[in-house]
Amino acid sequence: MTIKSIAVLTSGGDSQGMNAAVRSVVRSALFNGLEVYGVQRGYYGLIHDDIRPMDLRSVGDIIQRGGTILQTARCKEMTTPEGQQLAADNLRRRGIDGLVVIGGDGSYQGANKLGKLGIRTMGLPGTIDNDIPFTDFTIGFDTAVSIVVDAINKLRDTMSSHERASVVEVMGRHCGDIALYAGLASGAEAILVPEMNVNVDDVAHRMKQNFEHGKRHSIIIVAEGVGKGEDVSARITELVGIEPRVTVLGHIQRGGTPTHNDRILASRLGDFAVRQLIAGESGKACGVIHGQLVATDIDTVVHTKKVFNQEMYELALRLSQ
Ligand code: ADP
Ligand code: F6P
Repeated sequence: MTIKSIAVLTSGGDSQGMNAAVRSVVRSALFNGLEVYGVQRGYYGLIHDDIRPMDLRSVGDIIQRGGTILQTARCKEMTTPEGQQLAADNLRRRGIDGLVVIGGDGSYQGANKLGKLGIRTMGLPGTIDNDIPFTDFTIGFDTAVSIVVDAINKLRDTMSSHERASVVEVMGRHCGDIALYAGLASGAEAILVPEMNVNVDDVAHRMKQNFEHGKRHSIIIVAEGVGKGEDVSARITELVGIEPRVTVLGHIQRGGTPTHNDRILASRLGDFAVRQLIAGESGKACGVIHGQLVATDIDTVVHTKKVFNQEMYELALRLSQ
């Protein structure tokens, strides 16, 4: 089937680089002679028919901006068969042949359902969590890690002046990649992630020993999926008497200008998704593995758990002794 028009939406938690991905989808579609529509507020806009035509100028001056000009939403209706049918009907009524969904694993589930209703879909991995399999990195992850590393650099200055310990809580509900990458890049002494069973008591004892052996500061990174930084700090105090200061980085990790890596990833993936649709592909999740663009069945992607990089985790701990 020859496609003539496509729509693009951003869904779930936003991430830096979503705008660069929207820009790439819109401009690649126009370059290839397609009509292109933007859906406001993710699946909510699809169900409520908030769909607008986009042109070259609609995506001007956004490559460097965090957030998403299309806005995003968490939409309960989309998880129901009725909501999914409404979304598909709206696309069909407008004669839109394909849909590019930029979002995380929940958004991919929605795209998968639409695919089963006959909509030609492409998923782009837009989330800071890096929790999507079949791509080395998700759009926004690189920026989020840079933000965490920058924050830890600042914390280190004051922690080492005062010979203190610091607990830094980072995002990552089910995936410890932000903690892992930021931990390796900033020399954290302990990295607590949902994928690894780390005993906080052991961390506390090691921290005490390290201070006794001349360490002037100590950084512990806690992915939110493990628990609260405050609780980790309280347990350390209770056990060894050290009082780590707690920093919760929160949504700061999801904002700000995307790094060049995220802009490039988003630009490559957006264009790839459009070319896949034009080539007649559908129901795929786009990613980059070892530098190569890949398209994997979205049904496989939503039923696969991303493998945690244990080797990198062990390296981070070895190097931070
Ligand atoms: P993310 O895409 O960042 O993981 P969410 O998990 O909140 O964010 O998912 C985004 C949206 O995707 C949800 O608000 C919902 O509209 C849709 N979605 C999530 N799970 C499903 C599902 N099982 N079926 C259909 N739609 C879903
Ligand atoms: O985007 C993913 C994520 O950042 C998770 O790590 C976090 O738990 C969640 O979103 C929080 O998002 P919100 O406050 O928008 O629900």
